[in-house]
Amino acid sequence: MPLTRRDLMKRAGAAGLVAGLPGLSLAQAGGGLLQMPPLVDATTSGAFDLLARSGETNFLGQNTTTTWGFNDQAFLGPTLRLAHNSLAKASVRNSLDEPFSLHWHGLEIPGHADGGPHQPIATGATWSVDLDINQPPATVWYHSHTHLRTADHVQKGLAGAIQLTDGRDDERGLPSDYGTDDLTLVIQDRRFDRSGRAVYDPGMHDRMMGFTGDVILVNGQFGAQAVVPKGIVRLRLLNGSNARIYNLASRAGRTLHLVATDTGFLDRPVAVDRLQLAPGERAELLLDFSDGTSDMLVSSSITNGGMMGGGMMSGGMMGGSARDSFDILPISVDPSRRARIDRIPENIGGTMPNMDIRGASRRDIALQSGMGGMFRRSRNQHSINGNSFEMDRLNFSVQRGATEIWTIDGQNMAHPFHVHGVRFQVLSENGGPVSIHNSGWKDTVLVNGRAEIALRFDHLAPASTPFMFHCHILEHEDGGMMGQFSVV
Ligand code: C2O
Ligand code: CU
Ligand code: CU
Repeated sequence: MPLTRRDLMKRAGAAGLVAGLPGLSLAQAGGGLLQMPPLVDATTSGAFDLLARSGETNFLGQNTTTTWGFNDQAFLGPTLRLAHNSLAKASVRNSLDEPFSLHWHGLEIPGHADGGPHQPIATGATWSVDLDINQPPATVWYHSHTHLRTADHVQKGLAGAIQLTDGRDDERGLPSDYGTDDLTLVIQDRRFDRSGRAVYDPGMHDRMMGFTGDVILVNGQFGAQAVVPKGIVRLRLLNGSNARIYNLASRAGRTLHLVATDTGFLDRPVAVDRLQLAPGERAELLLDFSDGTSDMLVSSSITNGGMMGGGMMSGGMMGGSARDSFDILPISVDPSRRARIDRIPENIGGTMPNMDIRGASRRDIALQSGMGGMFRRSRNQHSINGNSFEMDRLNFSVQRGATEIWTIDGQNMAHPFHVHGVRFQVLSENGGPVSIHNSGWKDTVLVNGRAEIALRFDHLAPASTPFMFHCHILEHEDGGMMGQFSVV
């Protein structure tokens, strides 16, 4: 279970003794005000620049960690705001000492602009690409998608959020004041050594189960607190963790009003008391702070599969008791700040997925984790339909405009399954109805057993820059649980 600030202070004290360090500075480091990533609003200019760079980040107030970020940030990148139907000219420059590719997760754009593993940006090089965006407003994101290195790069910080906007949130009655009543929360877990340095050293177990850490960061910050106005607050949640699945709730028992899933608004808010968020997924929630009381965003502990956990987590029954929950983000209210929005809107006006699947062809996708990886020579211990990912093997090709139904089968544990270049509709989960958090438009779905999804391929992806489909547990992705297809 993730550590609290108090645990870490204890640990830091011990480390101070062991390493002869001057004790705790955590008291000063933690507990600050939560910062938003800087906002880069490209809705007017239609252009933005990202410069990938290395820097030093002091996460815990002890030793610094060498991290990667974009532009002014040593860790993570700015939030990009783009018009949902526009041409955005992106320029991505690499000042790191190794190549990376940058994928726009959730953008429905052609393969040549997708930024998958076939499009590495060399050290010193700039990738200029036109993002021809035409899809519903949503919170999507960007992250490194480098062959065999995605997990490591995202841990280092090559990720950020994107807001696709149509500028009509006022009409919807949605908070949209960045960092005030509209918070972007990039949730990630990390491991630290005793000196306070973030470490990414996946062992065999981590490669099998995914790498989780015992410290939760929000926007790269540990122990920071959000201060919100008195009224309705929108949380745009992005699970940017390599492997950890969250099951979010309000400690004070506030209702979570779900208004958007990965790639679009719901038609109307849906009240839930917990929200599952798997790696790669986004969700937008409204919370009502008009009573002025503070709260804590918490998550219950979920063990995903594993030899010790005794199989899969049970679908729909993942809620633990408050006892085994851990803190994500303290939220307090500044009563002197009046919120612009003071009630939960009745309608959001999003279009719920309702795909025409008559005549759709079917495809079976089996996600396979290699058990007993120690007996294998290859690092590719994971696979899809018996094949580990290979750069030069296309798994299949689909016709542009075709609709397909994919049956995704997970094994041993739950896998967040993601497809590039499309948004999809979840048709069923384990043969039954779709859970609420999967009822809107999705690009990533946690498959815990079996799920059926319907996809329509509207964008071309030649064999040279095909679309990926993969598990978004990044150790699984890098370990071969990925395939690629062209759209012709
Ligand atoms: Cu978010 Cu193929 O990745
Ligand atoms: Cu993607
Ligand atoms: Cu997986």
